[in-house]
Amino acid sequence: MTTETTALTVNGNKDFQSNFMENGLKILRFLETAYHHSETYPVLSSPLELKQKLLNPDQLPQEGDESSKIVDEAIQAIFTGYCNVSHPQYYGYISPKPLPISVLGDLLAEGLNQTPGAWRAGPAATVIETETLRWLSQFIGYEDEFDKIPNGIFTSGGSMANASALKLARDTIIGRKVQDEGLVDSSFKPTVYMSQEGHFSIWKALDFLGLGRNCLRRIEVGEDARIDINKLEEQVQKDRKMGYKPICLVGTGGTSATGTVDPLDSLAQIAKEYGMWFHVDAAAGGVFANIPETRQYFKGINLADSVTLDPCKWLFVPFGIGCLLTKNGSELLKSFQASSHYWEDLSEPDLFQMGFPGTRQWRSLGLWMAFKHLGSQGYCQLLSHTLSVAGYLAETVKAHPDLELLQEPTLPVCCFRIANTTQHSFSLDQVNHLVQQLGVEKGNHYFTILDWRGTNFFRVSINNFQTQTQHIDSLIETIFSQLNSLNLNH
Ligand SMILES: Cc1ncc(COP(=O)(O)O)c(C=O)c1O
Repeated sequence: MTTETTALTVNGNKDFQSNFMENGLKILRFLETAYHHSETYPVLSSPLELKQKLLNPDQLPQEGDESSKIVDEAIQAIFTGYCNVSHPQYYGYISPKPLPISVLGDLLAEGLNQTPGAWRAGPAATVIETETLRWLSQFIGYEDEFDKIPNGIFTSGGSMANASALKLARDTIIGRKVQDEGLVDSSFKPTVYMSQEGHFSIWKALDFLGLGRNCLRRIEVGEDARIDINKLEEQVQKDRKMGYKPICLVGTGGTSATGTVDPLDSLAQIAKEYGMWFHVDAAAGGVFANIPETRQYFKGINLADSVTLDPCKWLFVPFGIGCLLTKNGSELLKSFQASSHYWEDLSEPDLFQMGFPGTRQWRSLGLWMAFKHLGSQGYCQLLSHTLSVAGYLAETVKAHPDLELLQEPTLPVCCFRIANTTQHSFSLDQVNHLVQQLGVEKGNHYFTILDWRGTNFFRVSINNFQTQTQHIDSLIETIFSQLNSLNLNH
């Protein structure tokens, strides 16, 4: 019997490719405008109408619509509430303007739906991903010798990389039995150590892993925002006397607030002495570990058992790519290996065996293309440039009688405040806050407020490799004009 088949048609769509090129080019042109004419758009827009839409979203569409209309609608919607990270005066958090070549890499990887999760689902993806992991390790001066097993894993971001590192610490130090039995009946009382300035993803991960947030010892920092080594040792010894089992020491390679780097070489020694896994959370700053200006701060990073990096920060690739590097991948393999009756094991690496996710996006192609395009030297130039702009801002602040610098920048993050004003209707803290808010409302620059031990400071992060010293001059000028407008109105 023969059955006649007709192609499926939905809303007149037979090949589901209608206007693909036309729509694609429209999107690329839009991106080009956003990159090349970024200063024509406000730095941040979040109008009231958007907040209302959040409360009253559209109903699920029942019938389809023209693809070109939808592309227009999406572009318009994004512009209504656009966070313009490509603007040279976007100084928020560590959100970079992406390198266009990395965006194209992501498009290619996603367009062809390749995954580095498993060899059979993406042989080229697996190879290129493994190569990119090695390049990252070499770039930061962590490890230069590799064997067959990939020396780490790409993750969705820094938080997932940190969580994976804590799992390695748990499984390696407590013992692999914990992977089957958990901790419920265990007599172990594990403890983990990190400075007060360490990232919140660590305690989220401790909760997630069943170790519990209370096992985290948040060690005081000194005036320089680095972990206090004496306090750390005191705490470890006290815990040991009380029957706790120190399993992991987390050093921070660039705090999210001020970009400060812990004394990693001393931490490595302490971790070794007390038999702890030594993890460096270098999500923020790790890519500066091997460049001449900042190498001194990262001494000892090569002694870490694992290192978190976030290429979507100062490697200028789109969000959604973090990385956990290890000395060799064998611990990852022991901690995450899994199989099933539908899965035939091959001798080639299946990267889902080295991390939590199974199928996942191939985010490293954009980074691989960026490394090839710039070379490590080109990347170093971009990083040095952001450092020099932050240094220029710090010098400008120090030379100004009404401004106060929080600390010399280590990474391209500069924190300072208005410390003198003739304005007496508000406290200094309020003045700093109001000036920051005025800037955000006017849309010509964006930076955040850091509450440093009860005092408000401006936090300015040089995220964009196209930010120049003249942008810094204009930022300082605008801050004072906003201060004057406050004075006039009160
Ligand atoms: C030091 C540090 N660790 C971890 C993270 C978490 O990374 P992600 O936001 O990519 O999950 C961040 C994010 O800013 C960070 O600065």
